Amino acid sequence: MSLRLGDAAPNFKAVTTEGEIDFYEYLGNSWGVLFSHPADYTPVCTTELGKTALLKQEFEKRGVKVLAVSVDPLDKHLGWRNDINETQHCTVDFPIIADESKEVANLYGMIHPNASETFTVRSLFIIGPDKKVKLMITYPASTGRNFYEVLRVIDSLQLTANYSVATPADWKSGEDVIVVPSVSTEDAIKKFPKGVKVVKPYLRYTPQPNKD
Ligand code: BEZ
Repeated sequence: MSLRLGDAAPNFKAVTTEGEIDFYEYLGNSWGVLFSHPADYTPVCTTELGKTALLKQEFEKRGVKVLAVSVDPLDKHLGWRNDINETQHCTVDFPIIADESKEVANLYGMIHPNASETFTVRSLFIIGPDKKVKLMITYPASTGRNFYEVLRVIDSLQLTANYSVATPADWKSGEDVIVVPSVSTEDAIKKFPKGVKVVKPYLRYTPQPNKD
């Protein structure tokens, strides 16, 4: 059975470019982003890992630890990492898992046989501090992911974990958010002192509660 939202993220031990890790121990109480790529020394993957490294401070600010994974061996990862640093003007210092046995790929359903029998597709999982799967996305090999979108989703997940709100289409941190349907308008007015704008009884906005 493949993983679904809310499932426990499977733990594993793995060899990585940052040494051997136990996934849960590595994450500690942080949020996690685990993302697979098809293969080392390929152009789109090179830009994806480079972009992730360049966004290091953004991930750190949000308390997120990042890990990449493919089925390539460690020595290949290490050589390729030099190329990523050189061509993308970055320093990759997050772990790249060498998943030669495909243990991680199989635990997370990262191999889609009708796309490729051998390589992982571009899967990405956001994992909460409770080790539950909060988001899953899957892109084909031909399409690089948008890591600003990953940060945007993390902002939404971290906000909605703590307040009775949801975030509308294309929302960005700082913009108004939506009061969840389970809160009555009367209660919303008490809960959200910055104000509640009622567009329809089921569509109510309030300023983002954790921003000044
Ligand atoms: C790439 O990362 O550039 C790539 C990998 C596999 C297939 C197509 C593109």
